[in-house]
Amino acid sequence: MVIDDIQFKKLLTAEEVQDIVQRMAAEVYQDYKDKSPLFVGVLNGAFRLTSDFISYYEGDCKVSFVKLASYSGLTSTQLVQTLLEVSEDIEGHDIVILEDIIDSGRTLKTLVDMFSNAKVNSFRIASLLYKKDTYQGEYAIDYIGREIPSEFVVGYGLDYNEEGRNLNAIYIIDKDE
Ligand code: IMP
Ligand code: MG
Repeated sequence: MVIDDIQFKKLLTAEEVQDIVQRMAAEVYQDYKDKSPLFVGVLNGAFRLTSDFISYYEGDCKVSFVKLASYSGLTSTQLVQTLLEVSEDIEGHDIVILEDIIDSGRTLKTLVDMFSNAKVNSFRIASLLYKKDTYQGEYAIDYIGREIPSEFVVGYGLDYNEEGRNLNAIYIIDKDE
């Protein structure tokens, strides 16, 4: 598959993605079943994950979004911009961040800082994908869907120059082409 002259190959089928999301929702539910966590999706990338995740989540919950951006084209930039802050009064809530992917960890650090100033009851991170080899953060990610090689991926909410978010499978850059 080609997007803007870049060749991609399939990394996870649509079914595999759904299985991973379902498993994550079950794992989180085990830890939060007596509570009503506030799931905070990180826009834009995590909009599909957030939607599917809550449809698989069996317990009470609340949902909100923040918007952060650090990527430009194929590379992560140093600067993470906050474009939309979480709107609810989050004091006393059990927060679970839903991220599409963790790469350098800069976005994650911004989120950790953002929420550490608020008087939340608890704070955890769930990420569908995790590039272990490029992660430079200190925060240990609480729920990981799948560890992947540190290459660029698209699909299921993840974009390449804003394209590919609609794909149901996840594709990885094909270096052999
Ligand atoms: P980090 O701040 O470097 O950890 O990057 C995290 C953010 O960059 C993610 O929330 C994504 O939105 C975006 N990102 C990281 N890796 C990829 C990728 O391979 N494809 C598309 N977006 C990515
Ligand atoms: Mg993101």
